[in-house]
Amino acid sequence: MMNSPPKDLPDALVSQVDRVLRSLLSVDRKTGRDNPATARGETELSAEERRHAAALMRINHAGEVAAQGLYHGQSTTARLGEVRAAMDEAAEEEFEHLKWCEERLAELGSRPSLLGPLWYAGAFAIGAAAGIAGDRWSLGFVAETERQVVHHLDEHLERLPEDDERSRAILRQMREDEEKHGATASAAGGAELPAPVRGLMTLTSRIMTRSAYWF
Ligand SMILES: [Fe+2]
Ligand SMILES: [Fe+2]
Repeated sequence: MMNSPPKDLPDALVSQVDRVLRSLLSVDRKTGRDNPATARGETELSAEERRHAAALMRINHAGEVAAQGLYHGQSTTARLGEVRAAMDEAAEEEFEHLKWCEERLAELGSRPSLLGPLWYAGAFAIGAAAGIAGDRWSLGFVAETERQVVHHLDEHLERLPEDDERSRAILRQMREDEEKHGATASAAGGAELPAPVRGLMTLTSRIMTRSAYWF
């Protein structure tokens, strides 16, 4: 006779994924800046608005998990010379973004993407490969990623429920930071990536955003 899966399997899966991510990202450590949402009062959102806002914040959280993988991978293989400090600072700010998104997800009664470890591993491999290709490409990759992220954040700022000022405050600060990260990488000599690579990056982020909305 076959055993049916235990009833609490989904919960067990979520907590296992959560454990893997926490160990990869040491998510409980302290960060410098306060969550920009704390300055905003909570507003009434309908159940459907909360679900939608949480799905968008889950995408942004997944993006920040990938950002950690990317910066960690890059930092492992790239030389980076005098821009290493700036890149490390960017990685630290990405970590703040990750925490803010996670906090907002919890406020909305939701959870991070189940596919987080996959995004982290994939981004780490890409970041490491870009670092091996050389600093010009590695920095070019960061600049292009950030350009695409800024574009994506503009879309989310539009799509969030009108009254969700807490999520919006987080995304606004993230947008400002991402713009700065991109500019720093470009100024440090990041090369413009060939169009097919840029296209592939857009495609990858589309797959990630579509799946993280639901899972
Ligand atoms: Fe970020
Ligand atoms: Fe960034």
